[in-house]
Amino acid sequence: EEPPAALAVPQAGEEELVLLRRVGVVDPSSLDDYRAHGGYTALRRAFELGPAGVIREVTDSGLVGRGGAAFPTGRKWQATASQPDHPHYLVCNADESEPGTFKDRVLMEGDPYALVEAMTIAGYATGAHRGFLYLRGEYPRALRRLEHAITRARARGFLGEDVLGQGYAFDIEIRRGAGAYICGEETALFNSIEGYRGEPRAKPPFPVEKGLFGKPTVENNVETLVNVLPILTMGAPAYAAIGTERSTGPKLFCVSGSVDRPGVYELPFGATLGELLAKAGVRERLRAVLLGGAAGGFVRPDELDIPLTFEGTREAGTTLGSGVVMAFDDTVPLPQLLLRIAEFFRDESCGQCVPCRVGTVRQEEALHRIAERTGAAAAEDIALLREVGRAMRDASICGLGQTAWNAVESAIDRLGAYK
Ligand code: NAI
Ligand code: SF4
Repeated sequence: EEPPAALAVPQAGEEELVLLRRVGVVDPSSLDDYRAHGGYTALRRAFELGPAGVIREVTDSGLVGRGGAAFPTGRKWQATASQPDHPHYLVCNADESEPGTFKDRVLMEGDPYALVEAMTIAGYATGAHRGFLYLRGEYPRALRRLEHAITRARARGFLGEDVLGQGYAFDIEIRRGAGAYICGEETALFNSIEGYRGEPRAKPPFPVEKGLFGKPTVENNVETLVNVLPILTMGAPAYAAIGTERSTGPKLFCVSGSVDRPGVYELPFGATLGELLAKAGVRERLRAVLLGGAAGGFVRPDELDIPLTFEGTREAGTTLGSGVVMAFDDTVPLPQLLLRIAEFFRDESCGQCVPCRVGTVRQEEALHRIAERTGAAAAEDIALLREVGRAMRDASICGLGQTAWNAVESAIDRLGAYK
């Protein structure tokens, strides 16, 4: 049941790291060790700045969401903070389930107090007194370490009725997912916490207005929240100087597949895909790279100069998503890989809306047929795949159905699959 102990963080301990700087260095069970490594200076700074000042710093830093959608964090916080309806809630989305994504796990297992501190700051800035940490059910070590960190922080006055004697009350509850990919979608996640089926709600209204229990809610990914610590300790201008103008700060990338050193890497935005793969030791005979996970898209080996930024990947007709980089050499059979992706979406569709419920089944069927057909018959199935893909993208309620055809489409159009 327990996942392997050694987490793959090839750069662990390197001095210039920002997000991973304590991972593999600090004792994750010790609040004192966390403090000895700079812990809780950001929260003290937050109390000096006040809620509006914190939001200003986060806005000026240019931080955008690291779950995959890159929405401006400061805008989200401001929108929640200004809602007249109360209470406000904070939800940390730690249901990391995108195939090939394991960066949040590294942060939570290696530096759990950082997330507890960052959640406290986010709650303070947005006027929330309760924070929910929705944790992927398959992360038992992260659960143990976070539970311990929350208990210790509470015992020492870093959480509770009067955080650090500043008159601010805040506490964190952990809720565990039960293996459904769709519960990482923010509104399905709210339903899951509320005890309902994990089905997405229609947006708008956005959670900043009506979220958990129908109340204004700020929902952020683990990595997004952890970025707030360096923003407050180094200041927004210094943080914004890292990366590029439109993708500021450091980013975690999850590299797996046909590489010698798979694992989580931290690089400033703007490094190229080729530079990242070189760090991970890319193997010869590279056939394709999947960017952004199952919901992302494939690129070819001659496209490794794509800059790893939100804007750069978008301009290249692909996506950075949550930072997944999966390399495949030519020993990996592409049709089987696509079938596996299609099976994943069919299996994980919540079934609430027809385009996705039926479309993901049709997509998988067509891919099964195509694997055994050639010529005109295969072309017919490719045309069908395009039609089904368009319907899923245009008419599905949530991101799962809207992106379920991305990888297959890019394999056909960019890699020339089934030719
Ligand atoms: P989205 O673009 O609908 O929303 C992004 C965030 O911005 C949400 O929190 C939303 O509430 C907020 N937002 C958007 N417009 C707003 C507005 N006008 N006012 C206030 N708030 C607003 O994207 P979604 O569906 O939340 O996420 C899709 C991404 O999730 C994909 O890019 C995918 O890569 C990623 N993903 C990540 C996974 C992981 O394990 N990390 C798993 C599955 C998908
Ligand atoms: Fe459910 Fe798929 Fe519709 Fe999303 S798109 S609500 S996962 S059926």
